[in-house]
Amino acid sequence: MKIASSVTRNYMLAIVLVCILCVCSDARPEKPTEGAAVMKKRYKTWLKQHKKTYRGNEEWNMRFGIYQSNVRFIEFINAQNLSYKLTDNQFADMTNFEFQTTYLGYKSRERPRNQQHSYEVGNYAIPSSRDWRKKGAVTKVKNQGACGSCWAFSALGAVEGLNKIKTGKLVSLSPQEILDCNLGIGNQGCRSGYMEKAYEFAMLNGGISSEEDYPYKGKQGMCNLITARKIAARITGYVRIPERNESAIRAAVARQPIAVAIDASAPELQLYSSGIFTGSCGKKLNHGVLVVGYGVQNGVKYWIVKNSWGTGWGDKGYIKMRRGTSDKSGICGISMEASYPVKK
Ligand SMILES: *[C@@H]1O[C@H](CO)[C@@H](O)[C@H](O)[C@H]1NC(C)=O
Ligand SMILES: *[C@@H]1O[C@H](CO)[C@@H](O)[C@H](O)[C@H]1NC(C)=O
Repeated sequence: MKIASSVTRNYMLAIVLVCILCVCSDARPEKPTEGAAVMKKRYKTWLKQHKKTYRGNEEWNMRFGIYQSNVRFIEFINAQNLSYKLTDNQFADMTNFEFQTTYLGYKSRERPRNQQHSYEVGNYAIPSSRDWRKKGAVTKVKNQGACGSCWAFSALGAVEGLNKIKTGKLVSLSPQEILDCNLGIGNQGCRSGYMEKAYEFAMLNGGISSEEDYPYKGKQGMCNLITARKIAARITGYVRIPERNESAIRAAVARQPIAVAIDASAPELQLYSSGIFTGSCGKKLNHGVLVVGYGVQNGVKYWIVKNSWGTGWGDKGYIKMRRGTSDKSGICGISMEASYPVKK
């Protein structure tokens, strides 16, 4: 009897326990709270990783809301087995509008000037793939910060490549010098500009200083005329690549890294992580970048593009973008306003 009653008691206890477990796992209001806790934990880790600080609880909460909707968008895109992936990078607490107004600073170019050289195809072999990084003609990835100076980084990236090819020396050049000293030739510093004006400045100034001599500050300041006279690289002109012709771009990239303008306003570009970007984007050119190569992967042709948003963005600061779109403007308008510097 004694044994039986104890068995019964244990059995009853088990039922009670099972019920409690049932109630717990079935309790609907608990689930979102658990999800929110996971999200909050992820957000806190992300905040630490990116060393973010906000003005107070209100901003913290507002940013958390934006972060969550970006994470949902990332998961939505990544679930689709596309050729590229997104991630919660340093821009994951910004709305797409904020991102566009802070980091994009390319304005469409003006009519050509007389210093321009004309595009020549030339008689040389065009390899099936090219990567100027492997030839040591590309400096490390830079970070423009919260300043629309992409155009200066893009143009100087092309000058750095040309300088290496012509002189054998890879020298990181100074976008700050262009921001500070180019006043009056049409670019507006951190607000906007275009690459050809940066080449024109380099020509008028007799060259460009090195990043080491004239370091980047991320905001426009007084031109340091003494440092601006220390020249690290020179160019004698620049070339506009014929518009809307990706084979012309390829022929140019076969010879040197080139500057291109793209429409980088898509949230898929804000949060891009890796793979060949094939997403849809507009062609309202608003960002200057550098094409440092091209290739083919699993039958998909791509451009290798160096950005100036630090190594935390994209694939260590780079993005592969689809090459050979049916629209002649290229992905995100990449073949619309391409150019490169020359040195005779
Ligand atoms: C995505 O790819 C994986 C593996 O290649 C496959 O198992 C899965 O079914 C694919 N999902 C979709 C939605 O196509
Ligand atoms: C595009 O550029 C290539 C190489 O420079 C040239 O051979 C071709 O004729 C151009 N195509 C068009 C449509 O202009």
